[in-house]
Amino acid sequence: MHSTMRRIATLCLAAGVVCAPSAALASNTYEGDPAPDLISLREAAKAKGIVIGTAVAGGGHHDATPEQNPFRNSPIYQRVLANEFSSVTPENQMKWDHIHPEKDTYSFTLADEIVAFAQANNQVVRGHTLLWHSQNPEWLEKGTFTKDELRQILKDHITTVVGHYKGKIQQWDVANEIFTGEGKLRTDENIWLRELGPEIIADAFRWAHEADPNALLFFNDYSAEGINDKSTAYYELTKKLLNEGVPVHGFSAQAHLGTQWGFDTSMRDNFARFDALGLETAITELDVRIKFDGPRPSDELIAKQADHYGQSLRACLDVPGCKSVTVWGFNDTYSWVPSFFQGEGAATLLWEDYTPKPAYFRLLKEMGVEPTVTPPPTNPQQPPAPQPPATQPPAQNPGSTTPPPSTPKPNAPGDKDKATKPGAGDKKTPQKIAQTGALTGIALLLGGGLAAAGSMAMIARKRY
Ligand code: XIL
Repeated sequence: MHSTMRRIATLCLAAGVVCAPSAALASNTYEGDPAPDLISLREAAKAKGIVIGTAVAGGGHHDATPEQNPFRNSPIYQRVLANEFSSVTPENQMKWDHIHPEKDTYSFTLADEIVAFAQANNQVVRGHTLLWHSQNPEWLEKGTFTKDELRQILKDHITTVVGHYKGKIQQWDVANEIFTGEGKLRTDENIWLRELGPEIIADAFRWAHEADPNALLFFNDYSAEGINDKSTAYYELTKKLLNEGVPVHGFSAQAHLGTQWGFDTSMRDNFARFDALGLETAITELDVRIKFDGPRPSDELIAKQADHYGQSLRACLDVPGCKSVTVWGFNDTYSWVPSFFQGEGAATLLWEDYTPKPAYFRLLKEMGVEPTVTPPPTNPQQPPAPQPPATQPPAQNPGSTTPPPSTPKPNAPGDKDKATKPGAGDKKTPQKIAQTGALTGIALLLGGGLAAAGSMAMIARKRY
């Protein structure tokens, strides 16, 4: 049995997931172990001493869309997840409303499956998230609790959830989105800050550290990629907490970017200043959405998207303590973007049919993986027929209380790995992808856009 098939079988067993070998899995020419001349994102990242991660679909907006949960039902989704990524983040499954739906009830099943998958596939896990203003259960937001009770509720939650995954989570987003764009604490929206004051932040980090002393504890936010009021608020707060001996280990930028904004080139310097404090940095939710009409965005926008992805990763690679870059989903079918940003989409690395976009190759290129093969000529005027998203959800918040990250500002950062610590990783430079006739490779139609962008040669690559 091919190793990937073995891995999938293992994960199915470990996770209790029903995934009988399918014809697609058995017959697909891409069986999971790249040929020696092919390299995955995770392999390229390992050589650079970082991990490259993805959100794992489920919960949140997925509950309001017609697609089946791909993590449980799609062998191809599982294959790509296992083969391309060395870190995973439950997209919603560890949020309060999912994991702690009633006051005295925890629901670990969905998150446990992801952690089991990660262990079966030698991936690290980012835990997301413990203290946030959004996606909290009604029993919490609408409850009538005294301050002492609320404090105990948060302590119990953190102790229970972090304790449940002790030793299995590499990084926790302890506090998520606690500052406004102006750098003020969200004391209105965030129940914890509103009711218990800013001191609760340090407590949350301390409780998480007690529950799992080896987990790295992060602040995480959007529109904090470059140097701006919000990221500076994190910088100042972090300095203060470190002086007080609070176990804060990392600062991460979500990096929900868009091609309508320029790339904020201060991302690198922003990460560098946290690096100088001794913190790890990370990109945790990278996607680059595009406003477009019609079946697909223009080549120009796709090239711009690739550039945003590439510059983000580059910013991370340039900062020693940046060791983890996570994309917020890897296939457009499951992206949160169309559900939250009307008229925008195509934000991920792969088209709906799992064909890689220029952004995918741009990430490889930033990691030193250069294409060496020129694919057969294709007609850049006629891109492959788009896969109509089975059904696009309505453009408003479906079933989730998460407000769209208020218009993300221009730009964002990048980062490096953890399980494979920098320096510990092999230094070999990955050789590039070559297409062979034996593989049902697809000729990427990057010619027009990428050549125009002068950033990449056309290359052919196997299809998943
Ligand atoms: C999003 C999920 O992708 C959606 O499925 C859900 O409906 C809403 O939340 N910042 C965060 C993430 O920290 O948790 C959000 O994820 C995106 C913005």
